[in-house]
Amino acid sequence: MNVTVIGTGYVGTVTGACLAYLGHRVWCVDTDAAKIEKLQAGQSPIFEPGLEDLMRLCTERGLLEFTTDLTEPVRQSDVIFVAVGTPPLPSGESNLTYVEAAARSIGAVMDTSIFRVVVNKSTVPVGSGNLVGTLVREGISAAGRQNVRFGMASNPEFLREGSAIHDSLYPDRIVIGTEEPETLAVMRNLYAELGSQQFPDPSFEPRPLGTTSVPVVETTLTSAEMIKYSANAFLATKIGFANEIANICERVGADVTEVMQGIGLDSRIGTKFLNAGIGWGGSCFGKDIGSLLHTAGEYGYQASLLEASLLVNKRQRLLVIQKLQEKLFILKGRTIGLLGLSFKPNTDDLRDAPSLQIAERLIQMGARVRAYDPISMDACREQNPDLRILYCNDALSMAEHADALVLITEWPEFGMLDLRELASRMDHAVLIDGRNMFDAACAAAAGFDYTGMGRATHRTATPASK
Ligand SMILES: NC(=O)c1ccc[n+]([C@@H]2O[C@H](COP(=O)([O-])OP(=O)(O)OC[C@H]3O[C@@H](n4cnc5c(N)ncnc54)[C@H](O)[C@@H]3O)[C@@H](O)[C@H]2O)c1
Repeated sequence: MNVTVIGTGYVGTVTGACLAYLGHRVWCVDTDAAKIEKLQAGQSPIFEPGLEDLMRLCTERGLLEFTTDLTEPVRQSDVIFVAVGTPPLPSGESNLTYVEAAARSIGAVMDTSIFRVVVNKSTVPVGSGNLVGTLVREGISAAGRQNVRFGMASNPEFLREGSAIHDSLYPDRIVIGTEEPETLAVMRNLYAELGSQQFPDPSFEPRPLGTTSVPVVETTLTSAEMIKYSANAFLATKIGFANEIANICERVGADVTEVMQGIGLDSRIGTKFLNAGIGWGGSCFGKDIGSLLHTAGEYGYQASLLEASLLVNKRQRLLVIQKLQEKLFILKGRTIGLLGLSFKPNTDDLRDAPSLQIAERLIQMGARVRAYDPISMDACREQNPDLRILYCNDALSMAEHADALVLITEWPEFGMLDLRELASRMDHAVLIDGRNMFDAACAAAAGFDYTGMGRATHRTATPASK
């Protein structure tokens, strides 16, 4: 099929490349000319493992193109994805400006030649399917055309940055929301190979053992929109729950990693997303919960659990400051090194990253902040020119005469650090492990004064029973 993807960000570029890999002919369109120029040169504007390899493969096959002009792509396409950003407004409501502009521009160029499906892939509040449909129709009328046939679908995206290719080629499910049979038929066709997993897997992203098909959830526009928000709200709340328990564990002398292992083995709960730490960040969880709360409010409902989920996460981020104060008392004039900046490993994404808030607070309190991140330091410097962070070439140089290190992002390379060497370079070998990445006993043996999140530092002796 012929496909246009509007927006070449984290979602659009990966979606476009994966659909091209599946054999569709794809045009990726963006208004950002610099981004398109980079993509045309084979360079990904984002750090995403495997993406450039996949792009190269698809462009060589003549199935993937990048452009700033959507006219021809839209005219030739059976399916047009809207994958532009939906950032939050101060009220929590989603800013739909980009989605609206994309919808109008699609309508302005659509002609009568074929039936097309316009798909919301962006995470958009309930009702946005209707809104985009209306705006496309208005665009068509404004261009003076009649009898242009198109259908609307919602196809929310669940990929995770850092494993986006894997998640797009081997998703847990595909959600298609539409009330129109003709639209559904097009979408089924588009995803036939993905659903049945009838495609050769790329060497750099092999198919997981046992993946033989992908469930397809066919539902209404509204339910599809709700599925995306509910999934993110649930995942964020699951982490929030682990953090809430971690804070109680700290007080009673338990270790949250063991507690979560203990509850996660219950098949009703599951082990994933129960890692206590400094909480979630990134462009989606906070924005999507905020948007869902706003939608609930519009219908006169106060979603208290979701409010609490946001609150717990906000509080959790700054717990490391409290832990630093407990260890060092005075933070003014101290040198604190941050291990990691991106909101999670394997991405350069700094949107709503806890590191930024922690750095800002430490600087406000008079501390000197250093940071080392394997990928996102350039992005951080560029996006936060006023944040007075000293960026270091590696973790060892960052530790030189530092008073404390805070593990912010669990990049795999941090797990291979020589902790003894690191501790020996510091003035005070304080290590706050914001992700419970290190083994507490190993860190202590290496000379660190180690504190994790929700991990009791001493095992209390169990009184012998008589
Ligand atoms: N990033 C994720 O992990 C993720 C996962 C699932 C869903 N989502 C959702 O997907 C959507 C996109 O997210 P993202 O992270 O890819 O955003 P992004 O900011 O990385 O990319 C958005 C792109 O859209 C482009 N754009 C804006 N208006 C345009 C227009 N009118 N025409 C053409 N291009 C336009 C921008 O230039 C930008 O390149 C959001 O709604 C987000 O919530 C994101």
